Amino acid sequence: MPGLVIVGAQWGDEGKGKATDQIGERVDYTVRYSGGNNAGHTLVVDGETYAMHLLPSGILNPNCVPVIANGVVVDLDVLFEEIDGLKARGVEAADRLLVSANAHIIAPYHKVLDRVTERFLGNRKIGTTGRGIGPAYSDKVNRLGIRIQDLLDEKILRQKVEASLEQKNHLLVKVYNRAAIRPDEVAEHLLSYTERLAPMIADTARVLNDALDQDKVVLFEGAQAHHLDIDHGTYPYVTSSNPIAAGACTGSGVGPMRINRAIGIAKAYTTRVGEGPFPTELLDETGEKLRADGGEYGVTTGRPRRCGWFDALVVEAAATINAFTDIFLTKLDVLTGWEEIPVCTAYEVDGERTSVLPMTQSGFHHAKPVYEMLPGWSEDITDARKFSDLPRNAQAYVRFLEEKIGCRISGIGVGPSREESIMLNDLI
Ligand code: IMP
Repeated sequence: MPGLVIVGAQWGDEGKGKATDQIGERVDYTVRYSGGNNAGHTLVVDGETYAMHLLPSGILNPNCVPVIANGVVVDLDVLFEEIDGLKARGVEAADRLLVSANAHIIAPYHKVLDRVTERFLGNRKIGTTGRGIGPAYSDKVNRLGIRIQDLLDEKILRQKVEASLEQKNHLLVKVYNRAAIRPDEVAEHLLSYTERLAPMIADTARVLNDALDQDKVVLFEGAQAHHLDIDHGTYPYVTSSNPIAAGACTGSGVGPMRINRAIGIAKAYTTRVGEGPFPTELLDETGEKLRADGGEYGVTTGRPRRCGWFDALVVEAAATINAFTDIFLTKLDVLTGWEEIPVCTAYEVDGERTSVLPMTQSGFHHAKPVYEMLPGWSEDITDARKFSDLPRNAQAYVRFLEEKIGCRISGIGVGPSREESIMLNDLI
């Protein structure tokens, strides 16, 4: 029975938390499989807002086992901050949460390196969240990473921290003009979490395969988004992991045949934080209005998000590469009040028209959007619960996007809270 994966179809912040939570009630396991606390989920339940960065958003459902799988990089300070923060609001997470023994740890030096590297890059910076994500994944690939399981063997942990810092301290002192970081201090800091973490550490790949064998519903929850994927996104302006649906397999240890539903989350317009190409970006008061209407400020960094019209090429590419079975379209209500709504259905790239994403980075940077204009609507749609409750032009907007993306739209968000949604097809 079902393995489902949820993936952002644009550049992140599509409202995945809301969609995840929408189907969360029927889910037995929710699994984070990539990224770290660079993600930001905002969940609104019973009027209460919860902002989470690392914990799977299914954490609020007491019948669900939240899993941080092997593909995630874990900042232990943040993990326990979130666990304690939820406990203070009456949500007990610690006794349900499982953390993969193979997940990598974001050590304090990764955060330092993230910030100094960005500063060093100057105007070639990536605009990272500064959470140490890139340096932690670099160490993983360089085989210099510290894993969760290393906390269970103090001697090994100390050796690994020392080995990892040896080269970095030369870099920090000689290139970046910073103080060296003491390995023993880092090791002490990490070991201070061992006692609390130990009961949560598990062979999560085994746990998840067993759960699927028993017909449990397992929801793989992508962080970031398709176009921030290290392989398929707008490299180098991407994150350092694989948020795409296929990343759920490597990032959690289940085979591709076990995932039978891939749900893409797309905002009814487009946003992006950090640097990188964004053909439909609006740098004028139109973009400012979208930002204000949509509350487009980062959950993780508070940065204002870059805003623009819906780009069908961006979402179509994600639908193709992730083989989306369904799209959940979020924040349709934010578009209420425009007389006309442009949708980008092609690019002009160096004098040529294309209806698919350019193959090269240069092509993407040169792309000029070609818009088709759709009539807007002025009625408040936040109370709509059936597709037929939507004004005719809002319905036409949804159907137009569906046709351009080439994937059915199965859910529509019409407001921030859980209930403010229209479901056209069941997601499970
Ligand atoms: P990093 O993941 O912190 O290394 O940042 C790399 C790029 O991904 C930057 O452009 C970030 O702004 C972007 N990014 C990372 N996480 C998210 C997210 O959850 N939503 C949107 N953008 C993100």
